[in-house]
Amino acid sequence: MKLWKGRFEKEADPKTNDFNSSISIDSRMVRQDIEGSMAHAQMLGECGIICQGESERIREGLKGILTDIDSGALAIDPDAEDIHTFIEGELTKRLGDTGKRLHTARSRNDQVALDVRLTLREECRGLMGQIRELIAVLCQKAQKHAGAVMPGYTHLQRAQPITFGHHLMAYAEMLLRDLGRFEDTLKRMDVMPLGSGALAGTTYPLDREMTAKLLGFSQVSQNSLDGVSDRDFCAETAFSVSLCMVHLSRLCEELVLWCSWEYKFIELDDAFSTGSSIMPQKKNPDIAELIRGKSGRVFGDLMGLLTMMKGLPLAYNKDMQEDKEAVFDAVDTLKMCLTPLIPMLETMTVLEENMRNAAARGFINATDCADFLVAQKGLPFRDAYKITGELVALCIKRGLTLETLPLEDYKQVCADFDQGVFEAISLERCVEGRKVLGGPAPENVKAQAQRVLGLLK
Ligand code: ARG
Repeated sequence: MKLWKGRFEKEADPKTNDFNSSISIDSRMVRQDIEGSMAHAQMLGECGIICQGESERIREGLKGILTDIDSGALAIDPDAEDIHTFIEGELTKRLGDTGKRLHTARSRNDQVALDVRLTLREECRGLMGQIRELIAVLCQKAQKHAGAVMPGYTHLQRAQPITFGHHLMAYAEMLLRDLGRFEDTLKRMDVMPLGSGALAGTTYPLDREMTAKLLGFSQVSQNSLDGVSDRDFCAETAFSVSLCMVHLSRLCEELVLWCSWEYKFIELDDAFSTGSSIMPQKKNPDIAELIRGKSGRVFGDLMGLLTMMKGLPLAYNKDMQEDKEAVFDAVDTLKMCLTPLIPMLETMTVLEENMRNAAARGFINATDCADFLVAQKGLPFRDAYKITGELVALCIKRGLTLETLPLEDYKQVCADFDQGVFEAISLERCVEGRKVLGGPAPENVKAQAQRVLGLLK
């Protein structure tokens, strides 16, 4: 039976019903819906808008419904239009006329605006906890491999020596910003919309601050149209999720590369790898690939939300019912990705020797060779750069590295070279020397990790 049966002469066509309904998506907000209704009922009672006894019975009734849903004694009716209708209907079934008083001074429009906020608030807090865990694992791994020399890349070409710990800490920094974005998202979401009514507020003397306090909001919305009209907090959540997924996707792309035979910088634990149905030798990084792949659907959720909102006149429009499927998919996907990623990183084996070997090829100390001529021999950097370029070309022609090229050959290209160059281009020296704040020197990396672990507390 529809809420609006007084106005209508016919029942809805079943095809319309299914299309119009949102119960399959919003039933996950059952607890938040009940929590919101309990606060609303309490406020109505304390303000004398309904009598205290009825307010109490309503709250008892709502509590009973939640208990029965949790225990399985009550199933959510899949034919109900949405969770708000279902709960109110069930309450009325149990309490009769008293149940019908719950919706005084309230609309499903401000109710849904509240429920989604309550739900996303919890989801965001959960995600932040997972992101913190991930950052902690990155820091621990970084501390362990603070001195593991590896090639740093630009254009996927070996560029300059860094350490594996430094590389991991770059992701820790990105994830810290993701945490900050979720914090900001929560700050702007921290606004209680009940009292906005359908769009124009209400004539009942509500104590909106009381409802806000009961529900743990620090503010109430200041414009009734805005209170029910915007879903910016959904889009913002989806954006925070999207950017975090970009970071995870890049990390996973690197994990995929690193565990290939072409790199072999890491080995994923068997528990986080998969095999092939035909190739017996295969060990595939499916989890990392799936995380990379799932980023796409999250960006789709964000695009869907922005596009859904952009042409809507104020206030509520049914288009907005589409908000939940998109934003819940975004938060669920990130949660699903973080869940295996954290232990996968924790358990991976880091093959330091392979990284060191890769670092020894590719002339990643060429800049340091040029810097030697600048610092020790007073050459202008541009000249030193050109000389080193000639040395690299010579090495490539002869199948040598800067470490194995004889000093006589150095001297042929530039008479200023002496034995000291070999110390200057030692990879360990190269990373140890990069002590500038933010640089990859092992002591820096340890300090960075310590600092970040401290921030997490
Ligand atoms: N199921 C609806 C939604 O998710 C609840 C609000 C319904 N309001 C309305 N005026 N039809 O958006």
